Amino acid sequence: MQERRRAAHQAIQREFQVGLSIMITPELEEYIEQHIDKEPEVLHELNRQSHIRFLLGRMASGHWQGRLLKMFVRMINPKKILELGTFTGYSALAMAEGLLDKEAYVDTIEIDDELEPTIREFLEKSPYGDRVHLHIGKCEEVIERLQGPWDLVFMDANKRNYPEYYKICLEHIPVGGYIIADNILWDGKVIGPLPKADAAQTQAIRDFNDIVAADPRVEKVIIPLRDGLTIIRKNY
Ligand SMILES: C[S@@+](CC[C@H](N)C(=O)[O-])C[C@H]1O[C@@H](n2cnc3c(N)ncnc32)[C@H](O)[C@@H]1O
Repeated sequence: MQERRRAAHQAIQREFQVGLSIMITPELEEYIEQHIDKEPEVLHELNRQSHIRFLLGRMASGHWQGRLLKMFVRMINPKKILELGTFTGYSALAMAEGLLDKEAYVDTIEIDDELEPTIREFLEKSPYGDRVHLHIGKCEEVIERLQGPWDLVFMDANKRNYPEYYKICLEHIPVGGYIIADNILWDGKVIGPLPKADAAQTQAIRDFNDIVAADPRVEKVIIPLRDGLTIIRKNY
């Protein structure tokens, strides 16, 4: 009897899980791309150049995440956005594209000055480039020189510092403001034994996820798109 109940329970679980995590085949991928907004030409070229010019080109947000970030900006209607970690500027430009207020802009901070020529090249090519204010430096330090608060923060810099970024960012957003944190599933390494290769980053992301989960001041949801995004709303 118990066996039968367990088998039934497992079948329900399997069905539930299939519903939650549908396998994205290349055919489904193509289908999705036919049914969402196209990737703007400039961003398509920026993504391509990110892969050609840089070893870690895959760090650029890309088509799906770029459209999602733009949609969040449309929904939140922020006057000011802060981005930690510009890389080549893909997400900064995608978010700038979503800005509704004519005065609104994106502050984006990048530590690696070798990226600056590529970022500036594409800011000039994009019709939204003038809405992006690039700051080269360490985000923990640069934030203090900038004029907050920001209604939306996109956290995407050094994974080792996520717990610290969270603390700083919460201080710089108003009640009702949002933080979107990228890479929070870290290729699935947030569960199971700690991998040796990038133990510090993995542990920091685990710590960050636990801190957010236990923080009563914020509402949070996880979107398992790409490497995982946590959407956080500051309630008080
Ligand atoms: C994942 S990439 C950003 C990708 C970009 N947001 C996008 O979605 O297209 C992370 C970037 O953060 C930068 N970074 C790392 N530590 C940083 C720090 N302390 N301050 C500013 N930028 C940092 C890295 O140089 C890298 O370019």
